[in-house]
Amino acid sequence: MGQPLTVGIVGCGAISAQYLTTIARLPQVRLVAVADLDPERARAAAEPYEGVEVLDVAELLTDPRIQVVINLTVPAAHAEIALRAIAAGKDVYCEKPLAATGEDAKRVLEAAGQAGVRVGCAPDTVLGTGIQTARVAIDEGLIGRPVAATATMMTPGHERWHPNPDFYYVPGGGPLLDMGPYYISSLITMLGPVATVIGAASRTRAKRTIGSGPRQGEAIPVTVDTHVTGVLVHESGVLSTLVMSFDAVATRAPNIEVHGERGSLVVPDPNRFDGPVLLTRLGDQAARELPVSAGYAEAGRGVGLIDFLSEGEPRAGGAMAFHVLDVMESLLAAAHSGRSVDVESTCERPAAVAFRDPATRE
Ligand SMILES: NC(=O)c1ccc[n+]([C@@H]2O[C@H](COP(=O)([O-])OP(=O)(O)OC[C@H]3O[C@@H](n4cnc5c(N)ncnc54)[C@H](O)[C@@H]3O)[C@@H](O)[C@H]2O)c1
Repeated sequence: MGQPLTVGIVGCGAISAQYLTTIARLPQVRLVAVADLDPERARAAAEPYEGVEVLDVAELLTDPRIQVVINLTVPAAHAEIALRAIAAGKDVYCEKPLAATGEDAKRVLEAAGQAGVRVGCAPDTVLGTGIQTARVAIDEGLIGRPVAATATMMTPGHERWHPNPDFYYVPGGGPLLDMGPYYISSLITMLGPVATVIGAASRTRAKRTIGSGPRQGEAIPVTVDTHVTGVLVHESGVLSTLVMSFDAVATRAPNIEVHGERGSLVVPDPNRFDGPVLLTRLGDQAARELPVSAGYAEAGRGVGLIDFLSEGEPRAGGAMAFHVLDVMESLLAAAHSGRSVDVESTCERPAAVAFRDPATRE
């Protein structure tokens, strides 16, 4: 067994607890230190974990013990933190989206290329048993030739539960940039990259009201579209219909369905690692649940770091995250112009994940 991968976390807000839990479970990854603009948050995050140091942000980004900087700041800070880590010669693993804009994301990937370091990016939920089992089912031809997919995410908005929801309603946020990465990464994992998009979008309210925490009752401005719909035309010709909304009370639509010439799949929530994959073949009376056949079992956020233990582009990697961001920006451009937009970038489908417990060393 080699040395563990040494990592440091910048940004100790709501999502950091999930990373801390995952890393504590992975013997091949060691958390050296955490940092936040608010040192109190960093201290609170590190407190339950023996040996994890609290550093200031600049110290962590240049700490020679740290190989990978995990960037869990808000989207508007993703590029700045990533670029500083890359300048210090570190690999970076970023929460989604890769950056608030495609232009910033491009700067991150170019800097990483020049420095010879790697970029990984959430979501790694697509490496779990849910999406991976669905991918294998499609690759093995259980639905025949894929023709279409639907992807639906509808909620009333995260300000009901998040104590600091401002970032969800400024550029880099909105339902598409916030939740789209889960759905679009899943669609690309199953059906390949996207060539062209058509879109329409709306914005229902100029302000949102925080529903919990010390700022409860405070109104925050909305400067992004809060209901975004569109069609993604995959390079393969498959048509995926996307609905991403912070303007709906409830939905009973499945998160994702994939339809082929001989069968249809219901795919579980791509914001989770697991969940049932349901198959109905032409002529079947009812759907049947497929046995789990691929993906990391019992996985949590941060499992994508495992690929940094070996060479090459991580599965939850910068190239895929850049294509996802490009698809989302193209969709918004299509919505605002009323025209279809060709997506300039593309990416490889990442290699499938064999069924295994990520805590076991290979
Ligand atoms: N909250 C969730 O459920 C959730 C789920 C999945 C992914 N994410 C993603 O995780 C990221 C963080 O979300 P969150 O909900 O934890 O946000 P948050 O606001 O709760 O936490 C972000 C933290 O980053 C710190 N920060 C901001 N700018 C910084 C900078 N320049 N340097 C150092 N620290 C800085 C803030 O002080 C804060 O503690 C976002 O990209 C979000 O999309 C969040």
